[in-house]
Amino acid sequence: MSLTARVGLVFAAALCVVIVLMTFERPPVATTQVGFRGTAMEQVVNPRAQRVRLAANQIPEAPEAADNEGERAREIYENVQVLGELSIAQFGRIMQAMTEWIAPEQGCAYCHNVENMASDEVYTKVVTRRMLQMTARINADWTPHVGNAGVTCYTCHRGRPVPAAVWSTSVLPQNGLQEPRGQNIASPVSNLSSLPGNPFTPYLLEDNEIRVISTATRPGTNPADTMQTEWTYALMIHMSQGLGVNCTYCHNSRSFANWSESPPARLTAWHGIRMVRELNNDYVVPLTPLWVANPRGPAEGPHMPRLGPAGDALKINCATCHQGANRPFYGAPMLQDYPELNTVSQEPLRAASAAPQ
Ligand code: HEC
Ligand code: HEC
Ligand code: HEC
Ligand code: HEC
Repeated sequence: MSLTARVGLVFAAALCVVIVLMTFERPPVATTQVGFRGTAMEQVVNPRAQRVRLAANQIPEAPEAADNEGERAREIYENVQVLGELSIAQFGRIMQAMTEWIAPEQGCAYCHNVENMASDEVYTKVVTRRMLQMTARINADWTPHVGNAGVTCYTCHRGRPVPAAVWSTSVLPQNGLQEPRGQNIASPVSNLSSLPGNPFTPYLLEDNEIRVISTATRPGTNPADTMQTEWTYALMIHMSQGLGVNCTYCHNSRSFANWSESPPARLTAWHGIRMVRELNNDYVVPLTPLWVANPRGPAEGPHMPRLGPAGDALKINCATCHQGANRPFYGAPMLQDYPELNTVSQEPLRAASAAPQ
């Protein structure tokens, strides 16, 4: 064999090794059967990845419960609009908890002018009132999704002012021919496939149909168009990744559309999609002017973008709460230790405080 041939052979072998390493996950993988034998209803999990996800989904220890006796916060403090029914001890306890959950490094000053705690001049305090109302709304009215486990600020924030997993509208290169949709641009949202990189605007903000499969027999009668199909698959990939599960966690792959053959988790997910849509439209998006006025956060930091590249707010998707787990914190109930979060007034906020400063 000539020298060039041998070099060529070595090169080809090295290339094969690289391809194999880049394409496949290193074993072992654990498979759990979740459906009937022979239906391929199973969950495939890599224990190494699972360990990382477990470590990322631990809840902090709760401080001692606070006494609900004595005067109410609204009788003592000057400017309380949502937490007025709490006792002073409960009020202090939830201030402390929110500090740990949202801004452990910045402390009270992240939301307060510490010279005048009643002032609303720091916009994060104004955002927080709405976040308190949002959290209470989830726990009271979205039980078909969150059950009794419920959520706290920590479910999304986990010690950071801006949750780790959020989405915003992408700024896409124009090709001059059609409305850019992020098609054929490898996007981590759709696991680097060529599917649209933003299935969130159509489904987690707008309420387009999540459909692929025809319900009619004649050709040409499928009400789902190509765009819906591509958006649907991109959303499904996000849902699988966000929850750390396979498609068969929610579907029987014999028929993806058929509800009666789907595991119950699919119905929970159905409610989840509607919940996220409401949270984005009714809570996050209306706060946009506050972030436009403070695009890199409060003076106390951390200084990082509060808006996406297209100037819209950073919004919620499945990963914001789930962070790779099929249930946030793998089902460990956290809300039960914070009754304060269920005593939030849903009255409209005073106009002065809802407007950007
Ligand atoms: C994540 C934002 C946030 C953090 C951090 C925070 N607070 Fe607050 N604080 C608020 C909000 C929102 C209100 C108003 C509650 C309402 O309208 O019912 C408030 C109100 C108060 C008030 C009542 C002031 C008045 O007279 O109206 C006090 C006192 C207070 N906080 C103390 C603290 C202390 C002490 C800390 C630090 C341990 C702290 N807060 C951290 C958001 C925060
Ligand atoms: C369902 C998820 C979710 C929950 C629950 C949640 N938040 Fe948020 N929060 C968000 C998202 C998403 C943003 C980022 C918006 C942006 O930066 O454009 C945000 C932003 C904020 C900000 C502004 C951050 C900054 O520096 O500009 C504050 C303050 C805040 N949340 C406080 C809270 C508090 C307090 C609670 C609990 C009462 C809470 N949040 C519960 C999703 C959540
Ligand atoms: C966490 C649960 C969940 C996971 C995981 C999931 N799906 Fe779905 N899927 C749903 C729900 C819920 C709907 C219906 C949405 C609606 O109608 O609003 C749906 C709808 C669909 C549809 C449309 C069916 C029709 O009626 O046309 C297809 C196709 C589909 N999923 C494929 C997949 C694929 C492929 C995967 C894996 C990449 C996957 N799904 C992962 C919950 C899930
Ligand atoms: C506000 C936080 C939050 C968001 C956002 C969220 N979830 Fe959940 N989800 C939860 C909580 C909490 C539970 C656990 C409920 C329980 O333990 O009873 C849960 C449970 C589930 C389950 C049931 C798991 C099981 O094994 O029964 C599915 C499926 C699910 N979520 C899918 C989704 C999908 C899909 C999205 C995005 C469209 C989503 N979730 C967004 C908080 C959230």
